[in-house]
Amino acid sequence: MPMGRVLAMLLLLAARAGVPCATAGVTSPYRRSLQMLPDMPLDADVFRPPPGFNAPEQVHITLGDQTGRAMIVSWVTPEHAGSNVVRYGLSAHHLTFTAEGTVQRYTFGPSYKSGYIHHATLTDLEYGTRYLYRIGFGYAVRTFSFKTPPKPGPDVPFKFGLIGDLGQTYHSNDTLTHYEASNADAVLFIGDLSYADNYPQHDNNRWDSWGRFTERVVAYQPWIWTTGNHELDFVPEIGETEPFKPFRNRYPTPFAASGSTQPHWYSVRMASAHVIVLSSYSAYGKYTPQWAWLKAELARVDRSVTPWLVVCVHSPWYNSNDYHYMEGETMRVQFEQWLVDARADLVLAGHVHSYERTHRVSNVAYDVANGKATPVLNGSAPAYVNIGDGGNIEGLADKFRWPQPDYSAFREASFGHATLEIMNRTHALYQWHRNDDGVKVVADEAWFTNRHFLPTDTN
Ligand SMILES: *[C@@H]1O[C@H](CO)[C@@H](O)[C@H](O)[C@H]1NC(C)=O
Ligand SMILES: *[C@@H]1O[C@H](CO)[C@@H](O)[C@H](O)[C@H]1NC(C)=O
Ligand SMILES: *[C@@H]1O[C@H](CO)[C@@H](O)[C@H](O)[C@H]1NC(C)=O
Ligand SMILES: [Fe+2]
Repeated sequence: MPMGRVLAMLLLLAARAGVPCATAGVTSPYRRSLQMLPDMPLDADVFRPPPGFNAPEQVHITLGDQTGRAMIVSWVTPEHAGSNVVRYGLSAHHLTFTAEGTVQRYTFGPSYKSGYIHHATLTDLEYGTRYLYRIGFGYAVRTFSFKTPPKPGPDVPFKFGLIGDLGQTYHSNDTLTHYEASNADAVLFIGDLSYADNYPQHDNNRWDSWGRFTERVVAYQPWIWTTGNHELDFVPEIGETEPFKPFRNRYPTPFAASGSTQPHWYSVRMASAHVIVLSSYSAYGKYTPQWAWLKAELARVDRSVTPWLVVCVHSPWYNSNDYHYMEGETMRVQFEQWLVDARADLVLAGHVHSYERTHRVSNVAYDVANGKATPVLNGSAPAYVNIGDGGNIEGLADKFRWPQPDYSAFREASFGHATLEIMNRTHALYQWHRNDDGVKVVADEAWFTNRHFLPTDTN
């Protein structure tokens, strides 16, 4: 066991006394492990390249269309381009379909040059079906599998994992391990992937190591990507002025399928959920492409087919932590009324390295003249969840603001992940898991009732 890990385990902080709270919300006094753990070293087991010359590595998948009848497979070959073909089918002996991909490389700063990055879109898939797929050539062939999401419909159950701000520390590894035990079907990833930008010149080898680390999950189920500030990689000092360059080269999204013009905002419809992904770090003011897209997109949501309307955005609109306080405010002012009018069920954010869940709340009465700037509990409004607790190198955000606002239902500075298990058109079970507990232990839980089909229910 590495030294840092041993130290962290010895140094469990003593249980913090709970601070009394004037409102109904809970600030958990739960003891947590030491805040800062380093990134796992590059020779850690999770970063080991697969055996074989030029073996495909960093394999990951995401939807290739809006509903999952296509899947994009991405991978990197380190030495040369190699084969660009994915063979796929219903069993290992019947990989009857092939998809031809694209290959590209990029440079970053004065010294980094990526491996050969491949993306291939597997098409004509059936819903709710397990496929095997094979990539590579010669002695370095690798086989994986995934299950496509079920056909969209109002009562189709589906379980999402919710992970944000993951990074690549020992805590990140715990989060991924605990997530694996949750047996979910797909992840809504709420931004901030590798934290490679914490290294000099944003050492993009840490993008590669992150790709190898997460492969054990994301090669087998689609992750839906939201971009965070750590994907910006804007470093003019070393000539890197194209925002999101590593992310865009490595992590495609099916944005065109939902009429979007950029990978950073788009929607997918999986089972009974319509998921909208927004970008905190792209323009969203009135008349901008993202603003125009969201306006049109909300009009396209059909709750009779996909009752659950879930929005993912990196920078939170409601967050009672000092860390990044109010950074999401301008976007809230721009879009909150639309989401309340659309009766969105849930807004997921990350960015703040802590966990928080709100009651249904809105703050839409304010204009610059009337002074009504207090958020109010509002049954038409979404609940907000901050899930920026994946466990990255920057440590926990443990300075909550006091008193705890009325809208804040539960908050705790621990690392973990959550799941959203949609049962049918009216009920979804939401659960948060802290890493310090054993796998499958639930530390915060809520039943959400659907804002379209049960609009007056108080949950
Ligand atoms: C990461 O977690 C996996 C699964 O629990 C474990 O096998 C592996 O040894 C861990 N790696 C490190 C570096 O902690
Ligand atoms: C909740 O928001 C809706 C939509 O903006 C508004 O019509 C309603 O009055 C609000 N309810 C409360 C209790 O503020
Ligand atoms: C929806 O799921 C909830 C929770 O499992 C259950 O109580 C409810 O009866 C279900 N509704 C229908 C119409 O099946
Ligand atoms: Fe962030």
